[in-house]
Amino acid sequence: MKLIVVENYEELSKVAAQEYANVIKENPKAVLGLATGGSPIGMYKELIKMYENKELDFSNVTTVNLDEYVGLNPEHEQSYRHFMNENLFKHINVDITKTFVPNGLAEDLAAQCKEYDEKIKELGGIDVQLLGIGNNGHIAFNEPDTELSAGTHVISLTQNTIEANARFFDNIDDVPKTAITMGVGGIMKAKKIILIASGESKAEAIKGIFSGKITTENPASMLQMHRDAVVIVDKDAAKLLNY
Ligand code: F6R
Repeated sequence: MKLIVVENYEELSKVAAQEYANVIKENPKAVLGLATGGSPIGMYKELIKMYENKELDFSNVTTVNLDEYVGLNPEHEQSYRHFMNENLFKHINVDITKTFVPNGLAEDLAAQCKEYDEKIKELGGIDVQLLGIGNNGHIAFNEPDTELSAGTHVISLTQNTIEANARFFDNIDDVPKTAITMGVGGIMKAKKIILIASGESKAEAIKGIFSGKITTENPASMLQMHRDAVVIVDKDAAKLLNY
């Protein structure tokens, strides 16, 4: 696992975007695993800049997102589909029909999860997966637990995550209580993983990734088993690491 510690969020966004750009330049048809939340916004802005400067072409990529809230319409301002359209897709030349986000409105959620994994398989797997990390070590919506699921599944969000995500909603009661998420097995199958984290609130979870111990109580600790995982953090998130 490679650790890159940078000064601040701005630098983190640039370094992460460059890592992504390298994958796309090497393979213009890459399957890009994407994430939502606060962490990737700066990186997406950098990728948009690269596209505008004609350094990057997204016309042949396919994208797959990690997760989606159950019950939110794709047009809902807090749905992850809406987030992706607003923060990345509508600013670049990606073919929107080749952007995949789990359907949180599916009538049969179990079937939707199965289809999502099948879709990823049919695409030949994910070339590079972007991850943020929860304060509690969650990756995608794989929350700390005594056991973790391998494939895409429906999950109940923990109170900690509901509280952390309440900042995006008018009221904490509006935060959905369940989500569809790629499982840790699906994430670990990605050929390359890039995890980004900024700020002191992530320091404890980041420490767990470099603890030398793998535990379902810190799902991100699984990354220690991955062949090509890059962890990019700013100084505040790296606070508890010896580097
Ligand atoms: C988002 C996702 C989540 C976030 C995590 C960190 O698609 O899967 O795991 O990456 O909750 O969120 P932020 O970046 O808002 O701190």
